[in-house]
Amino acid sequence: MQEKKIEISFISANLSELSNEDQQLVSSAKLAFKTAYAPYSGFFVGASVLLANGEVISGSNQENVAYPSGLCAERVALFYAGAKYPNIKINTIAVSIFSQNFKEEDVISPCGACRQVMAEYEDKQEQPIKVILHSPTDNVLIANTVESLLPFVFKSSLLKNY
Ligand code: THU
Repeated sequence: MQEKKIEISFISANLSELSNEDQQLVSSAKLAFKTAYAPYSGFFVGASVLLANGEVISGSNQENVAYPSGLCAERVALFYAGAKYPNIKINTIAVSIFSQNFKEEDVISPCGACRQVMAEYEDKQEQPIKVILHSPTDNVLIANTVESLLPFVFKSSLLKNY
């Protein structure tokens, strides 16, 4: 028996330290959370995806009275991007949040299902996706790959019979 450790690396920064392109993407995510439909949680999340063709696709969380029928902002944006531009690679996804019940300095942390969906697109395009997580007080956490946010990711290569 042996204990093993996984190291993950991420960048912690202030929004002002990011490139103009990244700051603009965070601005899009901040605009996007205003379109959230979140009457049940009061947790407004916006996600913006920057594609390799320069286009930005945004989404926000969409809730439902039958709770599991709702969808997180990240997946709304990623599925929209995938449906509109199935063959264009994703460079970056930025996620921002507004909630009165959220510690302002904390960055939003995507749920496991959203990480899995991000990982699928990263695997498909064979190119890393940068993930930018933004707090209401402009703290930012950057992961340069989705894989670093999801150790032991379930990938298509693990499926033998497809
Ligand atoms: N939510 C997101 O949209 N993204 C996240 O990264 C975390 C959670 C949404 C789902 C639900 O509408 C609300 O936030 C509370 O969980």
